[in-house]
Amino acid sequence: MAYLYEEPSRTFSEYLLIPGYSSTECIPVNVSLKTPLVKFKKGEEPSITLNIPMTSAIMQSVSGEAMAKALSREGGISFIYGSQPIGSQCAMVSRVKAFKAGFVPSDSNLRSEDTLSDLIALKKKKGHSTIAVTEDGTSSGKLLGVVSSRDWRPSRTPLDTPIYQLMTPFANLVYAKEGITLSEANDSIWEHKLNSLPIVDEENHLKYFVFRKDYDCHKDNPDELLDEKKRYRVGAGINTRDYKERVPALVASGADVLCIDSSEGYSEWQHLTLSWIKEQYGDQVKVGAGNVVDKEGFLFLAESGADFVKVGIGGGSICITRETKGIGRGQATALLEVAKARDEYFQEQGIYIPICSDGGIVLDYHMTLALAMGADFLMLGRYFARFDESPTEKVNVKGSYMKEYWGEGSSRARNWQRYDLGGDETLSFVEGVDSYVPYAGPLKDNLQLSLSKIKSTMCNCGALNISELQKKARLTVVSSTSIIEGGAHDVLLKDSQDSLKK
Ligand code: IMP
Repeated sequence: MAYLYEEPSRTFSEYLLIPGYSSTECIPVNVSLKTPLVKFKKGEEPSITLNIPMTSAIMQSVSGEAMAKALSREGGISFIYGSQPIGSQCAMVSRVKAFKAGFVPSDSNLRSEDTLSDLIALKKKKGHSTIAVTEDGTSSGKLLGVVSSRDWRPSRTPLDTPIYQLMTPFANLVYAKEGITLSEANDSIWEHKLNSLPIVDEENHLKYFVFRKDYDCHKDNPDELLDEKKRYRVGAGINTRDYKERVPALVASGADVLCIDSSEGYSEWQHLTLSWIKEQYGDQVKVGAGNVVDKEGFLFLAESGADFVKVGIGGGSICITRETKGIGRGQATALLEVAKARDEYFQEQGIYIPICSDGGIVLDYHMTLALAMGADFLMLGRYFARFDESPTEKVNVKGSYMKEYWGEGSSRARNWQRYDLGGDETLSFVEGVDSYVPYAGPLKDNLQLSLSKIKSTMCNCGALNISELQKKARLTVVSSTSIIEGGAHDVLLKDSQDSLKK
């Protein structure tokens, strides 16, 4: 006979946190949101720690290059979507890794024998006034000098003047060698009153410029998630079909962490994929797996070698898995059970395997609830899809700006590997929809606001970090009547737009 759980499965909106004692120490500025991304042994440190507990979903409509840079800049990580050819996914990963905050490849370059009229044409095209003069006129040629708008007078300097007569030659330039840190570069910029500092390699080939204005931007991002070479960290999605080709290519491109992207993780396919990766790379390659919704699923993936486990089936905003197939579990119930299994596993095995709450976060307070219920970090799709940095179109729908957002199981994404159960038959139905979400502007502003709400609630619970929150949190199920009491009620709202801004 089928097993019947006694308790219904519940979702975030059915819970509230009960405030605890908070001392005068408990103020948002003292709260740390650092959290482990990958497993670690008792007494050791994880090899990757997130500075904020946020990851962006492995989806075409969410995690491209711009999202990866923006989220890493804030301290989280994106998983570049895997539902694309291996080559294009790897190119995205490589570009994120090649991007050095504050170190900008020169995009306006000339040869020394070019003329002022070439310079004026280039300036018009690119809009930049600092131009590198290199032997071959490329961004990585041997640096011969730099020419800026201070080196010539409009309508006075003859247009056929060769650049070598205008430029500051290399011998008189202040420059730095590759390997300098951004803060050293900035010191040099200040010391020599420069607007830009060229960075060259051992043979004096141009590598980058550091501009005065970019350093200020860098200082605004104290939580940046960087690897040991000071590059942004980035993750990538993989599937259980082409992993023998995709994984080596992603590793070669510099991906920091991988994650098997599947709607159902308690499967032999995931075991085979994890086993192969661990056989090939041991602990060198970090890979998460999922999704699961119970203790058995967690233990299965833990034993198969997963570095973190994703929790959640059917709760995603674009997901119709529950109504199509009748499977899934309320996200709160799933999370509470898996978090307990993770803690028991840690007690018994001395290995901590972080868990990620994936899908179903609608309001900012759901983030805090998910963390309090035991999630080490969160994965969000709809939330990030609303920002400038998501790869989709911003469109005007009946007078309001929207961004497009579609599920990986929708016919638009054609990500059949994610829902594939093996065998040769192709899927004939969809598990996700194609939709719009209200456009919300830049990632940074929105994310900072959400994080400040999380920190504030943590203070109300007397917690200065996530693991303290998990230990101290007291949760209560709310009745349907008190859910109504929790929102604005019995008043006439002046600005109906407020409901969209949450
Ligand atoms: P959201 O944050 O509620 O929008 O949920 C995002 C999550 O939904 C993703 O991280 C996936 O786990 C899941 N997901 C993505 N595409 C689909 C789909 O087409 N059907 C079902 N679930 C999906």
